[in-house]
Amino acid sequence: MNTIRHRILVTGASGQLGMAIQELRSDYSAVDFIFASKDDLDITNQDSVINYLHSNEVDTIINTAAYTAVDKAENDKEAAFLINEKGVEYLAVASKAKGIKLIHISTDYVFDGSASMPYKEVDEVNPQTVYGKSKLAGEQILQKIAPSQYCIIRTSWLYSKKGHNFYNTMLRLAKENKEISVVNDQWGSPTNATELAKVLIKISLLSNITHNGIFHYSGVGACTWYAFAKAILEKYYPNKHTLYAVDSSSYPTAAPRPVYSVLDTTLIEKTFDITIVNWMSVI
Ligand SMILES: NC(=O)c1ccc[n+]([C@@H]2O[C@H](COP(=O)([O-])OP(=O)(O)OC[C@H]3O[C@@H](n4cnc5c(N)ncnc54)[C@H](OP(=O)(O)O)[C@@H]3O)[C@@H](O)[C@H]2O)c1
Repeated sequence: MNTIRHRILVTGASGQLGMAIQELRSDYSAVDFIFASKDDLDITNQDSVINYLHSNEVDTIINTAAYTAVDKAENDKEAAFLINEKGVEYLAVASKAKGIKLIHISTDYVFDGSASMPYKEVDEVNPQTVYGKSKLAGEQILQKIAPSQYCIIRTSWLYSKKGHNFYNTMLRLAKENKEISVVNDQWGSPTNATELAKVLIKISLLSNITHNGIFHYSGVGACTWYAFAKAILEKYYPNKHTLYAVDSSSYPTAAPRPVYSVLDTTLIEKTFDITIVNWMSVI
């Protein structure tokens, strides 16, 4: 008897989250994954998106493709919006035409970071950076075009052993320095890319998205970058470094960082029956 196989297209597959999904591939024998890097599928080329979905049968798209250079985006607005808004629009139009479920990844940067309680999905958005504004524009265009078949997952402080992220930067700095300074006045929740990848696949495999909408996903527990760094160093290089807690003013950036970007994950946990572990247990 033939079993029905689920076909998942992952865009931006060479990125951090895309690679995390790729590494799980062998755990899901009933799923046919198609991993498309930017060279395979440029989401800003509408003809390519249409042709790609014409040539490949797909049930769900997980869109991890994005312009993620937060500081560079401040002077590169057109490119950020082209990828984070137009690219999402093209995916949404093509998905709608073919009845494909579209799971799209967004960010804590849609908020202004002035809260003191974890952000819920319904909280007011107010992005302060070009990156945040472009990601919000992507959310909005997707909701407008395909209101009944999208799922937006906002996440924060994503890290994995592969890719450019704070976690790998700390491990590199630890090899090069005995003393490291890290900002201690920005709060968030580190998110292990593999843990998020499992949830994205789980949501993909639901036969239809009856729970379409926006969901927040991050590791459980809030910390500062300093506390995150301390935990990483204690695990991999115990008692080898002196870590200094400094203010953000010591590290001026082109794009302002949210002071507080902890996400409330209650909705995704209840809706999809998932348990999210504390970020400290998966570093
Ligand atoms: N990293 C974080 O801390 C964080 C936090 C919150 C939310 N997010 C969101 O999570 C998602 C995944 O992030 P990530 O860390 O995996 O980012 P990433 O490592 O930068 O990966 C993004 C991938 O998208 C590709 N890409 C760029 N333009 C494209 C295009 N036109 N067509 C197809 N692919 C394109 C990139 O290729 P090139 O590298 O060749 O340009 C890259 O491989 C993004 O939506 C991001 O906004 C990330």
